[in-house]
Amino acid sequence: MRILFVCLGNICRSPMAEGLFRREIERRGLEGLVEVDSAGTGSWHIGEPPDERAQRAIARRGVDISHLRGRQVKRPDLEAFDLILAMDRENYADLLSLADDAQAERIRLFLDFAPGAAGQEVPDPYFGGEEGFEHVLDLLEQAAAGLADFVEEELRRRGRLRAES
Ligand code: 4NP
Repeated sequence: MRILFVCLGNICRSPMAEGLFRREIERRGLEGLVEVDSAGTGSWHIGEPPDERAQRAIARRGVDISHLRGRQVKRPDLEAFDLILAMDRENYADLLSLADDAQAERIRLFLDFAPGAAGQEVPDPYFGGEEGFEHVLDLLEQAAAGLADFVEEELRRRGRLRAES
């Protein structure tokens, strides 16, 4: 399965989502079965590492995202990924505007996978302080766990994972 996280700049929310979800997948021993990436709808930060506040905040939770580099989402991504997870409604609308009807079904709000948070947004922490990054990480951790449950179920349904594993 291939999963793409999308925010505006691809230097704060989506690289943190990618890092946390990858750890969740590794903890469950699914790293050979799931591919993870992130991208931004905007083009300002192409080629840049994640925001230093994002790197520091997620490092305090034991995850290193310093190697990631910003890229912009492009039409072929909508075909290449099984699930495209938008951080907020603006990202969601921008992705939908690139998608055909079949591809539109692959696009979801990431917090739809966080228990009790369906329909909610991951707020943009870029113009705020360090505490905004902590709040975003709390939301992303919950959604990453919920998404990993969904992915495990989907892999079983596809016969890629045994029922008891
Ligand atoms: P992100 O945050 O979408 O979570 O990566 C932002 C990063 C940069 C900008 C906006 C949001 N910007 O305007 O440059």
